[in-house]
Amino acid sequence: MSVCGDFAVSWRCLVLLSLRLLFLVPAGLPVRSQGDSQSDNKVMDNITVRQGETVFLRCPQGNAVTHTAWLNRSSILYAGEDKWSVDSRVTLVALTQEEFTIKIENVDVPDEGPYICAVQTRSRPRTTSVHIIVQVPPRIVKLSNDIAVNEGSNVTLMCFANGKPEPTISWRRLSPTVQGFASEDEYLEIPAISRHKAGTYECTAANDVSLDVQTLDIIVNYPPSVLEGRDVGVTLGQQGVLQCEAEAEPLAKFEWYRDDKRISNGFDGIEIENTGRLSMLTFFNVSATDYGNYTCVAVNKLGSANTSVVLYEVIEPTSSTLLQGPGAVQDGNSGGPGTHTSACLWLVIVTQLLPKF
Ligand SMILES: *[C@@H]1O[C@H](CO)[C@@H](O)[C@H](O)[C@H]1NC(C)=O
Ligand SMILES: *[C@@H]1O[C@H](CO)[C@@H](O)[C@H](O)[C@H]1NC(C)=O
Ligand SMILES: *[C@@H]1O[C@H](CO)[C@@H](O)[C@H](O)[C@H]1NC(C)=O
Ligand SMILES: *[C@@H]1O[C@H](CO)[C@@H](O)[C@H](O)[C@H]1NC(C)=O
Ligand SMILES: *[C@@H]1O[C@H](CO)[C@@H](O)[C@H](O)[C@H]1NC(C)=O
Ligand SMILES: *[C@@H]1O[C@H](CO)[C@@H](O)[C@H](O)[C@H]1NC(C)=O
Repeated sequence: MSVCGDFAVSWRCLVLLSLRLLFLVPAGLPVRSQGDSQSDNKVMDNITVRQGETVFLRCPQGNAVTHTAWLNRSSILYAGEDKWSVDSRVTLVALTQEEFTIKIENVDVPDEGPYICAVQTRSRPRTTSVHIIVQVPPRIVKLSNDIAVNEGSNVTLMCFANGKPEPTISWRRLSPTVQGFASEDEYLEIPAISRHKAGTYECTAANDVSLDVQTLDIIVNYPPSVLEGRDVGVTLGQQGVLQCEAEAEPLAKFEWYRDDKRISNGFDGIEIENTGRLSMLTFFNVSATDYGNYTCVAVNKLGSANTSVVLYEVIEPTSSTLLQGPGAVQDGNSGGPGTHTSACLWLVIVTQLLPKF
């Protein structure tokens, strides 16, 4: 006779075998057919527990119970109040006429599986099984490093996570603007990356328990492009400022030229000031020789670009503008030209008065 002939009743079979080894069950106990045994073998709802938590396994007893045991698969944890398990996390909570309860502390993934309470009454054995399901919060274990690539490169980001149930992965760009991606893959492909796709990217791994979020930065390098320069008109002796603006990654370095000649900060009355994307060439006191054509060159490791701007002369207001009436405003900076105009006025008045003498 084979107690364990049928695979489908293997749990019950193991339990019976275990109990027989314990001399809990008389060897001559008849083996019931599967249909008949259903009433004696209860399956309780699954118990879902998070890693690290404590789980209580409660088994109803009854007056007629003679022997009882809790098993983890086929190994006995407790036979009555005798502890068989060497695992210190497993302890007895209650053994009474009503219940036989043990607890497992600090539950971990290997504890997942079927647990069986075997109960022997005067006439026949019965089992109650419960399945412990252990959940583990997601944890991102591998994420691509921050990267700097040249524009046009194919970029593949990677995000691997552990967890139970298996976490789902989602991708987002956080900055400069928030952008979601349909991809639910561990890999995010960005073909032929453009400068507009640079920024901070976020990988989220989520399951029923919680989520884990991590970010990485993508820098996209590209050669400079300069904005069209604006010509600047300045009066002799005034301050003049030429501006040059460049987009580039990494930021551009600026060079200023007049014709073929490089201008540097040491030049008298000239200052070059670079702040991020902007370069300013300042003439503190424009002289006649300063008027001309200037070229700004923006350079980074990927290339260069240039634009030319003209510093041209603006003539001071003349006497004719002064004679237009009281509305005309005289320039505050009146040296030579001012005295010249008053002399003219004097001449006009004198010539008009002369004939009356
Ligand atoms: C219990 O968990 C097992 C294994 O995950 C599953 O096959 C079964 O359907 C679950 N039963 C219930 C009642 O949820
Ligand atoms: C249950 O059995 C499994 C497999 O043998 C083992 O890894 C786990 O530690 C056991 N858990 C308890 C609480 O006995
Ligand atoms: C990027 O991928 C495309 C398509 O797979 C390929 O044709 C191209 O050569 C790749 N570019 C680089 C820079 O590797
Ligand atoms: C500007 O330069 C001219 C000629 O060199 C000089 O006469 C004048 O005083 C200067 N003005 C200022 C504000 O430095
Ligand atoms: C200024 O110089 C640049 C470079 O030499 C030249 O291309 C441009 O035509 C010049 N602009 C003017 C207004 O002369
Ligand atoms: C400015 O750019 C033009 C092409 O855009 C190039 O031919 C020229 O050599 C550049 N000039 C300088 C001074 O870099």
